[in-house]
Amino acid sequence: MISDKVLKKISGPSWIRAMFEQGEVLKKKYGADKVYDFSLGNPDLEPPEETLTSLRNLVNSQEPNLHKYMNNAGYPEVREKIARHIAKDTGISLTQKHIIMTCGAAGGLNVVLKTVINPGDEVIVLAPYFGEYSNYIDNFDGKMVVSQCNMETFQPDLENLESKISSDTKAILLNSPNNPTGAIYGESILRDMAELISKKEREFGSNILVISDEPYTQLVYDGETVPSVLKIFPNSVIVNSFSKSLNLPGDRIGYIAVNSSVPDIELFFSGLSLSNRILGFVNAPALFQRVIADSLEAKINTEIYLERRDFLYHNLTRLGFSCVKPKGAFYLFPKVHMEDDVEFVQRALAYNLLLVPGSSFGGPGHVRISYSVSTESIKNSIPAFEALAAEFNK
Ligand SMILES: Cc1ncc(COP(=O)(O)O)c(C=O)c1O
Repeated sequence: MISDKVLKKISGPSWIRAMFEQGEVLKKKYGADKVYDFSLGNPDLEPPEETLTSLRNLVNSQEPNLHKYMNNAGYPEVREKIARHIAKDTGISLTQKHIIMTCGAAGGLNVVLKTVINPGDEVIVLAPYFGEYSNYIDNFDGKMVVSQCNMETFQPDLENLESKISSDTKAILLNSPNNPTGAIYGESILRDMAELISKKEREFGSNILVISDEPYTQLVYDGETVPSVLKIFPNSVIVNSFSKSLNLPGDRIGYIAVNSSVPDIELFFSGLSLSNRILGFVNAPALFQRVIADSLEAKINTEIYLERRDFLYHNLTRLGFSCVKPKGAFYLFPKVHMEDDVEFVQRALAYNLLLVPGSSFGGPGHVRISYSVSTESIKNSIPAFEALAAEFNK
């Protein structure tokens, strides 16, 4: 009964799922507090108080029509508020006509990809990349093309990117701050990338859409800023969500913002709206559209993530792991002591440490460690990391 495509994916390796299952077994055997589960990007922190208050007020209000369908793009007044918020942050003028509310960034990415991909079209991703991209691109029979970043800095390698752009390139998918590396792509490299893309568009007579997947833009450290993609790439969209910025991953709320200089923008916008509908999302969750409209200025406590990053970075480097210090998101992506990162992850299991192999993000020889887990668990995990490192430092 199951389609060949889905059957193949179910049978193939899913490290996140495998780690989740292993974690459950270990937690039953040793107790949850003895298992150090760094495998998921599922924030352990609660949403900000004003977000929760807005939700309570809405639920308790007598307001009619709170739960109805609306325009597939979402409530116009919510979209207008988001457009103004982006305009205030970036100086770019947008209106509700440029915003589509989505079911998280995952929903938004699928909507954009459905709208632009013809079977066989190529979408370039920069490795290391969020592993789900391959599934999203494949949903529409697109072809994922991987351009490797500089693995010493995790910044884009423009020479490599140039070699990957072809007449079939439909889009380039960026993610900064990055999952899994925590890197923030620098403004000057992005400006050079924009020039490269225009050169290639002229060469091939094509239009290449830059899709910027930005769920981590609020999680940045060390006074860093995230360059505004809409300012740098004329043919671009940003896909954002409140899963990590307001700790609402289960509530599935996000948006797409379309650059006003995208060609045929009205047609493109209609296409996005239609895709939101026919992918079966129909519209983003009604209640949460209203909640986030009240929460655009709300902030989570990023100090906690910063402390965790510093603590883990200090201890891992002390133990001989080589690691680029992440500037954003809540992941570390250290090099491991052996080439085979899958085997390394299996060895870590012996110490109740759940990590994800870098190869599932196009970054072999590394592991991803998520610090969206309790500070206590992070502190308690250090003896396990010490024991694991000792195996290799003999
Ligand atoms: C880079 C990246 N993009 C998209 C998503 C999907 O996020 P959402 O919960 O907003 O769908 C995630 C989730 O971890 C992510 O890390």
